[in-house]
Amino acid sequence: MLSLRDKIVAITGASGGIGEATARLLADRGAAVVLAARRGERVDAIARDIRAAGGRAATCVIDVTRAEDLRRLVAITVDRYGRIDVLVNNAGIAPISPLADLDTEGWSAMIDVNLRGMLNGVAAALPVFREQGAGHLVSIVSVAGLAGVHPSMAVYAATKNAVRTVHEGLRVESTDGVVRTTAISPGYVRTDLADSMADPRAREQTRENMDAMGISPSAVAGAVAFAVEQPGDVEIGEINIRPTIQA
Ligand SMILES: NC(=O)c1ccc[n+]([C@@H]2O[C@H](COP(=O)([O-])OP(=O)(O)OC[C@H]3O[C@@H](n4cnc5c(N)ncnc54)[C@H](OP(=O)(O)O)[C@@H]3O)[C@@H](O)[C@H]2O)c1
Repeated sequence: MLSLRDKIVAITGASGGIGEATARLLADRGAAVVLAARRGERVDAIARDIRAAGGRAATCVIDVTRAEDLRRLVAITVDRYGRIDVLVNNAGIAPISPLADLDTEGWSAMIDVNLRGMLNGVAAALPVFREQGAGHLVSIVSVAGLAGVHPSMAVYAATKNAVRTVHEGLRVESTDGVVRTTAISPGYVRTDLADSMADPRAREQTRENMDAMGISPSAVAGAVAFAVEQPGDVEIGEINIRPTIQA
C-alpha cells in the first residue's frame, strides 16, 4: 500500500514556491511536515493554514548555510514527531549572470546555499537515518546543466550538478537499504526564484520564461510525493519534470 500517512517530513525552503507546495501537498495526504526557512512569519502562516485544514505541521527558522541550523531542524523534527523519515533539501537561490560579469559574491552565495546547504542537510540527517535504520533524502535540483549550459547559468548549473553527484555518491554508498535518495530536476516552475537574481536581464528573461511556460509548483510537489510514497525497497533515483513545451 503506497502511503504518506505515517511519514515525517522536514522541508527546507518551505516559505514559498516548490517548498511550500510540497509541504501543503504532503500534509494534505497525511504526512506530518516541518517547514523550514529564514522567513519565520511565512512558514508559521503556512503551518497555521495546514493545521486549520486538519493537517500536522510545525516550523523551524533556519539558514541552510549554517550546519547547526540543519542539526536543529532534524532535532526539532525528531523531538516533535518521534523520527524523521524524509528530508527535502529544497532551499535554493539563483543569482545568475554571465561569467564575464565576475559576480563572485553571487557565485559564493550559490555554492553556500545550493551545495553547502544540501551537504549540511546530509550531515545532519544521515546519522539519524542510520540510527533509525531508514531515511530518505530528496533534493530539488534542476534541469540546468543536464545537457549543455545556458548563458548566465554556469555557476548555478555547476552547484546543481554537484548536488546531483553527491546524490549518486550517497546512492552507491547506501546499498544496505537504509538510505533512499531522490534527485528531482525541474525545468521552469512559476515561483519567486527570479527575485534572487541581481542581474536585471537575467531576472526579466527568467520571469518571462516562467510566465510563458512555467508549470505550477504543485506539479513538482506531486513528484516529491510520488518518490516518498514508494515502498521502502523502491528508490526513485531521478525525476526530470519540465513544462511540456520547454526545449
Ligand atoms: N522555479 C524554477 O523554475 C526552478 C527550476 C529548477 C529548480 N528550482 C529549484 O527549486 C528550489 C526551490 O526554488 P523555488 O523555485 O521554489 O524558489 P523560491 O520561491 O524563491 O523559494 C526558495 C526557497 O528557498 C529558501 N531559501 C533561500 N535561501 C535560503 C537559506 N539561506 N536558508 C534557508 N532557506 C533559504 C527561501 O526561503 P527564505 O527566503 O524564507 O529563507 C524559499 O523558501 C531551489 O533549489 C531552486 O533552485 C527551481
